[in-house]
Amino acid sequence: MPILFGYFAHLQMSTVAISHLSKSFSSGLFRKSNIQALSDVSITVSKGEIFGLLGPNGAGKTTLVKILLSVVHPTSGTATILGQPMGSTGIRERIGYLPENHRYPSFLTAHQTLLHFGRLQGLSKHFLSSKASELLRVVGLEEWSRVKIKKFSKGMLQRLGLAQALLNDPEVLFLDEPTDGVDPVGRKEIRDILKGLRSAGKTVFLNSHLLSEVEEISDRVAILNKGEVLSVGTIRDITSHALEYEIRLGIAPSEPVLQKIGALSRSLETNQLTLTLALHAKEDLNKILQILLQEGMSIESVMPRKSRLEDFFINLIRTRENP
Ligand SMILES: Nc1ncnc2c1ncn2[C@@H]1O[C@H](COP(=O)(O)OP(=O)(O)OP(=O)(O)O)[C@@H](O)[C@H]1O
Ligand SMILES: [Mg+2]
Repeated sequence: MPILFGYFAHLQMSTVAISHLSKSFSSGLFRKSNIQALSDVSITVSKGEIFGLLGPNGAGKTTLVKILLSVVHPTSGTATILGQPMGSTGIRERIGYLPENHRYPSFLTAHQTLLHFGRLQGLSKHFLSSKASELLRVVGLEEWSRVKIKKFSKGMLQRLGLAQALLNDPEVLFLDEPTDGVDPVGRKEIRDILKGLRSAGKTVFLNSHLLSEVEEISDRVAILNKGEVLSVGTIRDITSHALEYEIRLGIAPSEPVLQKIGALSRSLETNQLTLTLALHAKEDLNKILQILLQEGMSIESVMPRKSRLEDFFINLIRTRENP
């Protein structure tokens, strides 16, 4: 019972708590078939963190965010945002949303765009005229505020989108592919803005298929594939399951020793006195160290190797598809 109580208390404290969400879409005109866009997704996001939802195209990232914003109805499951059921009145005013592939009327200036969207959200003209200038400064578009957005680059449009999502000074931001189509310099600028928002205490829920991007900025990530959450945690936590180690030896190992070790490993690379290996199971590390000691090798150090999220991601999805 105390464990259950702890679990519910944790859900209540979470800024976003998603519990067993599933969504199927029916497709096909004559022969109806179902697309399972989300299957039993449960994720929690804490206040003040940047949470990255990662997944390949079609994984269900946009569907999940649209459900949280009540644009799409789930087939089953629930979620709370800021402690209240999603879709509750009053929640909309406390969250910001940057949709995927957003388009703004190209004849408006950056400043006019913010006024237009702010008015649609019910914000007053008086409040908006100073808020729009402040936000254009935050996203680095101050000098472009009176320029028509048809002249804007993709990076500038995404920064304007961020400003639009911030108009109501939201506590939680949902950003769907905020750096899509943006060049590396523009991506870095957007990352810096997001870090600034985190420092200001905002919670950011970020959808992306750009792994390196998410790796750079997110406090925690979830990996979504074909509607299923394959892994959730800090980058360090989830990549530590990759079971990759670097062993430094005092003397170079002989070919027969390498063969014995290779037989126990998923992969083995040698570089003079350093062995880099990926294992099938954690227990195999001890077996390998025993072999090395029995063979008279002196072991200088054993270090878990920091695996890149991208390698981990590709392996995880491959293993799922060809178990
Ligand atoms: N309105 C809809 N009707 C039918 N199928 C849909 C609908 N919206 C999404 N889907 C399907 O649901 C699955 C998940 O789509 P979704 O757009 O959520 O993926 P995504 O992870 O955001 O992909 P991307 O990285 O390409 O943006 C896909 O197979 C998609 O075709
Ligand atoms: Mg999407």
